[in-house]
Amino acid sequence: MSIQDKIKQLVELRGEARLGGGLKRIEAQHAKGKLTARERIDLLLDEGSFEEYDMFVTHRCTDFGLEKEKYLSDGVVTGHGTIDGRVVYVFAQDFTVFGGSLSESYAQKICKIMDQAMKVGAPVIGLNDSGGARIQEGVNSLAGYADIFQRNIMASGVIPQISAIFGPCAGGAVYSPALTDFIIMSEDTSYMFVTGPKVAKAVTGEDISVADLGGPNVHAAKSGVAHFLAGNEEIGIMLIRKLLCYIPQNNLEEAPVTECSDPIDRVEEALNEIIPDNPNKPYDVVDVIDMIVDNAEFLEVQRNYARNIVIGFAKFNGMPVGIVANQPNYLAGVLDIDASRKAARFVRYCDAFNIPLVTLVDVPGFLPGSGQEYGGIIIHGAKLLYAYGEATVPKITITLRKSYGGAHDVMSSKQLRGDINYAWPSAEIAVMGAQGAIEVLHFKELKKITSEEERAKFIAEKETEYNKKFANPYEAARYGYIDDVIEPMNTRFRIIRALQTLATKKDTNPPKKHGNIPL
Ligand code: HXC
Repeated sequence: MSIQDKIKQLVELRGEARLGGGLKRIEAQHAKGKLTARERIDLLLDEGSFEEYDMFVTHRCTDFGLEKEKYLSDGVVTGHGTIDGRVVYVFAQDFTVFGGSLSESYAQKICKIMDQAMKVGAPVIGLNDSGGARIQEGVNSLAGYADIFQRNIMASGVIPQISAIFGPCAGGAVYSPALTDFIIMSEDTSYMFVTGPKVAKAVTGEDISVADLGGPNVHAAKSGVAHFLAGNEEIGIMLIRKLLCYIPQNNLEEAPVTECSDPIDRVEEALNEIIPDNPNKPYDVVDVIDMIVDNAEFLEVQRNYARNIVIGFAKFNGMPVGIVANQPNYLAGVLDIDASRKAARFVRYCDAFNIPLVTLVDVPGFLPGSGQEYGGIIIHGAKLLYAYGEATVPKITITLRKSYGGAHDVMSSKQLRGDINYAWPSAEIAVMGAQGAIEVLHFKELKKITSEEERAKFIAEKETEYNKKFANPYEAARYGYIDDVIEPMNTRFRIIRALQTLATKKDTNPPKKHGNIPL
C-alpha cells in the first residue's frame, strides 16, 4: 500500500467513525429533536479546537452475534478542546450506536480522558444520551460504570465536572452525573431515573409516565437533581459555556476574573426603598441581587427547587462569586430541609473551587412542625451550618432584614468565620420575632387576661418594647457581630471593596482525612 493509499484509508476510517451508527440512525436521532454526539461537541467547543481520541476503538464482545456488528468509536465520542480558550475534556454518548449503551471499551475511553483531565487540571464535561449498560456485555459493562464512578469521586473537588442529560439516563448510569457538580437537563428529550415506569408498576403498582417519574421538570422542581433546565440542547450547551465563566480550571486555581464595564461605585437608590415598612411583607431578593452584581447578570442554580433560598453565580467588578440569599418572596425565606441541602452543597462547591461567598440574609428561622422534624431538619439544617463553618474562602454577609434564631447563626454569621458582616439599617437580629417572643416571655400574664381587647393591647405594648430593643442591627453591632451598618444603596461598592480586601485571605482547617458532615 502506498502512503497515499494509507492516507486515503485513514480518511475513510475517520469518515466511517464520524457516521456513528449510520445515516438512518442519525436521521432517527434528528427526528426525535436531538443532535448527534459530534454535533453537540461542535456546538460546545471553540471552533476547530476538538482533538478526538480513540476514534478507532471498537467493542470486544463476541456474544449475541455482536462480533459481526462493530462501529468505530463504539458509541462514545471523547477528547479535548477549548471553551473561550480554556482546555476542557469532553465525552458525548452516541445514541446512534447501540442506543449509546456502555460497553467495556466505551468505559475505558471515558476513563482515559478523565485520567488525563486530572493530570492536566481541566474540567470534564459529559453529554449523556444512553440506554445504560450494554446488555450484551453483562458484568463488563457494570465494571465499566464503576470505573467511571470511582474517577468521578476522585475528581470531585479537584476539577469541575459538568453533566448534560440530552436523552435517556436510567438505572445505575444516573450515578455518574449524580457524582458530578452540575446537571443540566434538556426539556422534552431527557429523563433520569434509577428504575423506570415498568419496574415501578411491577414492584409498587404505581402507574406513572416517564416524564412524571424522571422528566426534567420533576428533577428541576421536585427532586432537585437537576441544577438547570434548558429549553433545548443548544441552550443547554450554551449554559455549560456560561457556567464555566464563573469557575476555575481546578481547585488550585482562582476563578477567571474578567474586565468589568459596570462602575464599581454605582449607587442604587432603589435599594434604600426595597425593604417594605411592614416586616411581614415580602420582596424579591433576586431584585436586590440584580441591582448589586455586574450588569445585573446572575446565573441562578436550581431556580425551581427550594425556592425559599436562592443560589447562583455572579460577578463583582469581574470577580466571580457564589451568592446565597434567603428569598422572602417564597415561604417568607424560611430555612427548611430542601433549602438547607440546596445551599449547603452550593457553599461546599464554592469553597472547594476558591469562589468567594456573598450571603444575603433575610430569614425568619427554621420551618417548624412535625413534617420537618420527622424529615430530619436537625441533620439537614446542620449541613448548611457545617458547610459555612468549614468554608475558608472569603465570606461576606449582608443582613437585609430578619436574622432570627439558629438561622442567624447558620447564615454565614461572624462566629462561623464570616469575614465581613454588614447589615442594612432595616436588619433585625434576634433570637426570634416579636410575636413568638411575647408568647414565651409573657405566657403566664397572657393566660390571666380574659378580655380579647386587653390581650391585644398588652401584646402590642410588649411587641413595641421588644422591637425597640431587638428589631435593629445595633444590638448585634454593639458586640461586634456586625462589622458595620451600611446604607443599602452603597451595597455594591462595599461588597467589591470587601472582596478586594479579602483577595489574599488565607485560612485553613485542621488536618484530617475528612470531616463527618451530617449527611
Ligand atoms: C444494548 C441497546 C440498549 C442497551 C438500546 N439499545 N439500549 N443495546 N444495550 N442497553 C439499542 C436498541 O437495541 C436499538 O438498536 C438502539 O439501541 C436504539 O434503541 P431503541 O429502543 O430503538 O430506541 P428508543 O425507542 O428511543 O428507546 C430508547 C430506550 C430503550 C428507552 C433507551 O432502548 C431501552 O429501554 N433500552 C434498554 C434500557 C435498559 O434497560 N438498559 C439497561 C439498564 S440497567 P438498533 O440496532 O435497533 O438501532 C443499567 C445498569 C447500569 O443500565 C448499572 C450501572 C451501575
